Amino acid sequence: MNEQQNSNIAEGINRNLLPRHVAIIMDGNGRWAKRRGLPRSDGHAEGVNTVRRITRLSSDLGIDYLTLYAFSTENWNRPKEEVDTLMHLISWALEREIPELLANNVRMLIIGDLDRIPEGPRNVLLGCLEKTAHCTGLRLVLSLSYSSRWEITEAAKKIARRVAAGELSIDNIDEATISDSLATKGIPDPDILIRTGGEKRVSNYLLWQIAYSEFFFTDTLWPDFDGAEYRRILEEFAGRERRFGKTSEQVNPKSN
Ligand code: FPP
Repeated sequence: MNEQQNSNIAEGINRNLLPRHVAIIMDGNGRWAKRRGLPRSDGHAEGVNTVRRITRLSSDLGIDYLTLYAFSTENWNRPKEEVDTLMHLISWALEREIPELLANNVRMLIIGDLDRIPEGPRNVLLGCLEKTAHCTGLRLVLSLSYSSRWEITEAAKKIARRVAAGELSIDNIDEATISDSLATKGIPDPDILIRTGGEKRVSNYLLWQIAYSEFFFTDTLWPDFDGAEYRRILEEFAGRERRFGKTSEQVNPKSN
């Protein structure tokens, strides 16, 4: 998408009703490629273009956090060739985008088990984190070698160690203790979770953090997900009433 199309899509959006944090399960790259008789890697490469498009648009709109499920803990079980391709594609694409990220004041963050990522791509990724560390605009949070159960297990270990060391008493463990022990420490919970590619499940993603997120499922395959569809989702979100367990009257007294 060029600059002009992007600014048209952002036009007329009520920025006060935008989500602060959008999380996306990017699904459907493989099917996109298969339908065209192409190798799966071509679908992932095309998926990178959608990452660029949606990152640019989120940044233009002033969204604070965009979190993308780029590689799950379970994805390590894919054929080695696909895993290698994905690791190199992701690290190569991110490194290539550094000038654009810097020009747009986008800071990159990573959540996930970086220790499992091969040294070459890991060093590239760590370099990207460092180069964008001073940026104060959109935070692009990449989930790499991430799964919620891994994250929660690690959090449980961290808390248990603090208790064992006498730094924390069991009675003082509260929701904030758990949130602050997760990989997403300091990041607000997602307001929206979008899943492309037609499946209606959350696949071990941000299970603690999506307690009150609004869900959007679309059949569109990730490489085909465009600014117009993203805009429609943001508009629908603006019209939804979020009650966080309260009544409609409590959250919106004026309209009742
Ligand atoms: C799901 O499609 C997609 C992935 C497992 C990888 C997503 C990765 C990218 C879009 C590249 C990310 C790049 C950057 C720069 C963050 P699938 O392969 O499961 O598709 P299928 O369900 O159709 O088989």
